[in-house]
Amino acid sequence: MKGCSILADAGRRRFLTGAGLATAGAAVATVLPAEAKTPPSAALVRYPATRLANVKDLKVNDPMDVAYPDADAPGVLLKLGTRVPGGAGPDGDIVGFTTVCPHKGFPLSYKTADKTLNCPGHYSRFDCEKGGQQIWGQATQNLPQYVLRVDAKGDIHAEGVDELIYGRLSNVL
Ligand code: FES
Repeated sequence: MKGCSILADAGRRRFLTGAGLATAGAAVATVLPAEAKTPPSAALVRYPATRLANVKDLKVNDPMDVAYPDADAPGVLLKLGTRVPGGAGPDGDIVGFTTVCPHKGFPLSYKTADKTLNCPGHYSRFDCEKGGQQIWGQATQNLPQYVLRVDAKGDIHAEGVDELIYGRLSNVL
């Protein structure tokens, strides 16, 4: 063991000499990125504005199946009966979410008793009254929530999604 300590000490001393510092400096110079010449582009994506339903079509705590931003993206509209974050409409209680689990893409089902969307795959649960916040399970993000607008006629339009939908490589549609 004494031999090992001597070798380690010699190694440390060599690293702190000019040769060691030069090697470390060269490594740092290679790792540091060059200064960006163009500013990064904004990650803002324009989603299509799509009419999903009318407020008269919704009943409290009765989910309505929809699709957004395209036909391959199943989702749900909900009138929760209490004002919530991201809630649209005259009562601020209409929300919409993707129903594809952000973990591995299983289809979610709505549980009226606690207003959650639940995954049969690995049991992740998402709170619809808290913006799709994950409350249990394997997923690593909250449930993507629709950005909704209700017009003067009561039509409900989806105009965006606040998280990446499972299976998409980016928010670019
Ligand atoms: Fe939903 Fe795994 S697919 S928790």
